[in-house]
Amino acid sequence: WATFVEDIDAINRLKAEQDAVILAHNYMTPEVFHAVADIGGDSLALAREAQNVDAGTILLAGVHFMAETAKLLNPSKRVLLPDLRSGCSLAESITPADIAELRRQHPGAPVVTYVNTSAAVKAASDICCTSGNAVEIIKSLGVPEVIMVPDQYLARNIAAQTDVRVITHPGACEVHERFTPTDITQIRDSHPGVTVLAHPECPPEVVAASDHSGSTAQMQSYVEEQQPRRVALITECSMSDNVAANNPDVEFIRPCNLCPHMKRNSLKAIRHALETGRHEITVDAELAAPARRAIERMLEVK
Ligand code: 13P
Ligand code: SF4
Repeated sequence: WATFVEDIDAINRLKAEQDAVILAHNYMTPEVFHAVADIGGDSLALAREAQNVDAGTILLAGVHFMAETAKLLNPSKRVLLPDLRSGCSLAESITPADIAELRRQHPGAPVVTYVNTSAAVKAASDICCTSGNAVEIIKSLGVPEVIMVPDQYLARNIAAQTDVRVITHPGACEVHERFTPTDITQIRDSHPGVTVLAHPECPPEVVAASDHSGSTAQMQSYVEEQQPRRVALITECSMSDNVAANNPDVEFIRPCNLCPHMKRNSLKAIRHALETGRHEITVDAELAAPARRAIERMLEVK
């Protein structure tokens, strides 16, 4: 922590000077998540919190689609992302033309788009979802068939929890697609009694081999409420660090994969963003209205 103190002090001073708040995703490293973030959470919580920010600047310690979502939901604020290279393999996997083609192939099926997408893709969609509300969003549509993009694994995992036929797209999270059922078997063999929680971006066979599945916020709630003796969070590496900080009696088994995009939000990068006002995220005016509508429809359901 000693090496972090100067940057932490500078960031907290800059936040006050710049009237800025830091919204941080659960995958931030602990020094960001616990020492400089004002609000932390999963994608759904960050979208909701962005709507309520009064301060003039929102610094999004996360990835590009999260900053765009904050800008869409609170357009009068300046939204900063420390590093423009903070992308997402899911957001990269799909374009509006892919959605148009799926609509042509499946006329009448509504398009449910994961928030891990660009504003242009959201604008081409009917409604958004996150991993924390996907089941409720799909059920709310009251139709037998939906197009759910771009995460093929999330789509299959959610389809397994509903009676709705789900058409999807071959996108995947580069962090979660690497977990295998063998990983889970090895964790159980070497750590008897472990509770395994898998993110729904993992392949369905991994989710099937786990005890529960849920968004990062749902994993956190599970640990806080159930206090399992030992737990393995099958997700990005910082998640266990951040949840462990408030759950000292739980043993965390830590198989994990790093998200290189999330990890670009170092203290130095955050400090630099507040010092220079870079990088400000804006959304093309023509895309903003339909993209916002798709997110707001989601927030009305859950
Ligand atoms: P949630 O925090 O919404 O579960 O999403 C995980 C993720 O991979 C975000 O990029
Ligand atoms: Fe995208 Fe996966 Fe990284 Fe989340 S963890 S930002 S879904 S690549």
